[in-house]
Amino acid sequence: MQSELLNPLAESSRIEKMPDPCTMVIFGASGDLTKRKLIPAIFDLARQGVLPSGFTIVGAGRTAMSHEVFREYMFKALKEFGRFQESEKALWETFVRGLFYVTIDPGKPEEYAKLKKELEVINEARRAGENVLFYLSTPPGMYSPIIKGLSGAAMNKPGGQNAWVRIIIEKPFGVDLNSARQLNREVLSVFDEEQVYRIDHYLGKETVQNLLVFRFANGIFEPIWNRNYIDHIQITAAETVGVENRGGYYEHAGAMRDMIQNHMLQLLALTAMEPPVLFDAQQVRDEKQKVFQAIRSIRPDEVHEYSVRGQYAAGTVNGASVLAYKSERGVSTESVTETYVALKLQIDNWRWAGVPFYVRSGKRLPKRVTEIAIQFKKTPHHLFRHLPADSLDHNNIVIRVQPDEGISLKFSSKIPGSFMRMRPVTMDFRYGSSFGGHLTDAYTRLILDCMLGDATLYARGDSVDVAWQLITPVHEGWISNKNSKIHDYTSGTWGPKEADELLARDGRRWRLP
Ligand SMILES: NC(=O)c1ccc[n+]([C@@H]2O[C@H](COP(=O)([O-])OP(=O)(O)OC[C@H]3O[C@@H](n4cnc5c(N)ncnc54)[C@H](OP(=O)(O)O)[C@@H]3O)[C@@H](O)[C@H]2O)c1
Repeated sequence: MQSELLNPLAESSRIEKMPDPCTMVIFGASGDLTKRKLIPAIFDLARQGVLPSGFTIVGAGRTAMSHEVFREYMFKALKEFGRFQESEKALWETFVRGLFYVTIDPGKPEEYAKLKKELEVINEARRAGENVLFYLSTPPGMYSPIIKGLSGAAMNKPGGQNAWVRIIIEKPFGVDLNSARQLNREVLSVFDEEQVYRIDHYLGKETVQNLLVFRFANGIFEPIWNRNYIDHIQITAAETVGVENRGGYYEHAGAMRDMIQNHMLQLLALTAMEPPVLFDAQQVRDEKQKVFQAIRSIRPDEVHEYSVRGQYAAGTVNGASVLAYKSERGVSTESVTETYVALKLQIDNWRWAGVPFYVRSGKRLPKRVTEIAIQFKKTPHHLFRHLPADSLDHNNIVIRVQPDEGISLKFSSKIPGSFMRMRPVTMDFRYGSSFGGHLTDAYTRLILDCMLGDATLYARGDSVDVAWQLITPVHEGWISNKNSKIHDYTSGTWGPKEADELLARDGRRWRLP
């Protein structure tokens, strides 16, 4: 086998830095994430010509597979999930020479010696260098045994002087504060924090990255990005799907662990953070951490005032009848797992004092949409007195994370004609029409960043910890506080009416995304 550039265009490609040659070992490579996201994302890097010379992927898992069978399986996955085109056959032929599979049970410490040996043989042939990236794409229960197994075989430390070993850990990172702390302890007893990449794929989405550009590369928004001009902020992640075939997993997770603890709090932190001094991993993550630390905790005895949880009942979504959550496969008929959460969060710092952040996420809602809406204060003086007050709406900036990615600004405009009448209009920026083509998938960006040693868009251990510190008392209150109830909502609606009341108490209402 020859060491090769995966794409002859690589040398001329215009990224600032090429990753070092490396081998990526994927634990759980026979699973869903590898075929749906990881292989398509890595092939996309080959497409962009940014994979280093000799780049090698080694799948690892219990499912017995030859290299050949793994390669065929990955090719099928790429055709199904990776926008593969027949014209890319030659690129695939080069790519596939770097795909290998090692059958091991990652739960058995003694099997890591075998993995190490196989990696040496593959590396000898591929000349991929000594850098290794481990990707934990197994169920979370396997993270700890894998970390111990790697350490037992001394695979956690680089083999050469300038070499590196990094590890990407999938979500969920713990199921509560104690388990997250325990996992952090285990990881950090074996790896240094600089080696650890805790993935939150929301951070790799184009629009989420663009939030930083929008705020900090433009002069006109930052001066008004504070309590003097902003009335409140709404962050919504709505899904039309139910739990699909993940009922068993979801019963133990719920919307709070699945969406709020990670993705939604990360979006909130990027929206609320102060401008970092430098755009690097430490400075950006330091600023985010300050936001997490400033979020006022919700005590168990006040959860009914600041949180609403719901569970979907039967209904109609996109014209199709759907089951109630309790009737889904793998779900208890007595379940009290929340499929919807709305929170009112307050950030106790100079910039945001008195500006509530309303955060909601739910399944079986009418529309699939993730957005951050910045709702500005009304004008201080009502000049057009003869018009009904509600014809003058709030200005807002909406950052649409998905789908139909873009940013819109809403303001009032005069309706053409002889009379002074007004209505709100929007100025829209859409990625699709401005830049064309496909947006890079979050995994593509994040895997490349890890190869480059840039952890800016990954969650740091301390932020995962503080996010669990915020969420845990809410969970406790849901169990212990008699005033806190779980409310049914009909599938295909925007959640329980109690979520509307959460805002109505403050004289506000949810946007219709
Ligand atoms: N799928 C997604 O879209 C998605 C999205 C976000 C995050 N994630 C996270 O990514 C990780 C992987 O997700 P996935 O959907 O690919 O998981 P998965 O399909 O359930 O499992 C991946 C692989 O892990 C191995 N595995 C399963 N149970 C094991 C056990 N008890 N002991 C040892 N190995 C075991 C299996 O491979 P072998 O039997 O061959 O060993 C399996 O194919 C999870 O932590 C998940 O939470 C997934």
